[in-house]
Amino acid sequence: MLVSDSQTQSSIIGGKSFTAVAINCAAKAGEWIKTKLGNYARLDIKQSPQDLVTEVDKGAEKLIRSLLLTHFPEHSFLGEEGVEPGPAASAKALEDVKDAEYLWIVDPVDGTTNFVHGFPFFSVSIALARYGEVIVGVVYDPMRDELFVAERGKGAYVHGKRMSVSGEETLATSLIATGFPAEPAYAQPLNLKGLQAIAPQVRNIRSGGSAALHMAYVAAGRLTAFWEIGLNSWDLAAGALLVQESGGAVTDTSGRPYHLGVRNVAASNGKVHEAFVGALVKAEAAE
Ligand code: IPD
Ligand code: CA
Ligand code: CA
Repeated sequence: MLVSDSQTQSSIIGGKSFTAVAINCAAKAGEWIKTKLGNYARLDIKQSPQDLVTEVDKGAEKLIRSLLLTHFPEHSFLGEEGVEPGPAASAKALEDVKDAEYLWIVDPVDGTTNFVHGFPFFSVSIALARYGEVIVGVVYDPMRDELFVAERGKGAYVHGKRMSVSGEETLATSLIATGFPAEPAYAQPLNLKGLQAIAPQVRNIRSGGSAALHMAYVAAGRLTAFWEIGLNSWDLAAGALLVQESGGAVTDTSGRPYHLGVRNVAASNGKVHEAFVGALVKAEAAE
């Protein structure tokens, strides 16, 4: 099984593999989330009717946090549900911990809108960064029981099989995903500009509603590329490593290298990256 095969000294402390613990957390949380589909008790609105949270998001984060910190009490933790809504609070929360030696970055339910509506496309996203560089990324889709795992320098896997990005060389043959941001002043118009420019140039567009799963699908070669405006570190950290370790490219929408603070992301199979980012920049849809 991939976890034990890919363990090395660098990812083991005191006999505990970071990756094995991350997988265990994602699996436990995912199983519980799945039992709550169509069955949650409390729906709250964060900043707008598009920005939702349930007791399942909060409960899953609590579960993951307590498991991680039981194993690694010295590590830092950044989870979506521990941060006030809005980009300023997210940026501040990241700034406070981003240089920690070990930082866990967690989105307990990526795709809450889907979860609330019973649309079966959401995921648990768990990443571990060391001094700001992601070294472990796990994205788990409980509905399909698909576990996507990457360790820096050791590749990325789904169902224990090595993943690699797709082979398309042109935008015309590309299947590209995006997310439709809720924020109406900045992110929505920029996304729509991008959509208008990209849609006529590609084979087709998809939008599933989970940024972390979209990134995992780029890594698995199921999507050629993905872009979205206004994401947070917890949406992207695990997925970014999945894409990189599968041979793809991850930058911001202007083509600058990925780091934890990137909010406007462009991820692809690498082969179409220049054309993809070029099209977004040309459309003034990049930032
Ligand atoms: C959201 C999902 C969605 C994306 C939004 C994210 P959440 O995360 O990733 O696909 O379009 O921008 O906020 O709120 O469900 O964790
Ligand atoms: Ca999210
Ligand atoms: Ca979430």
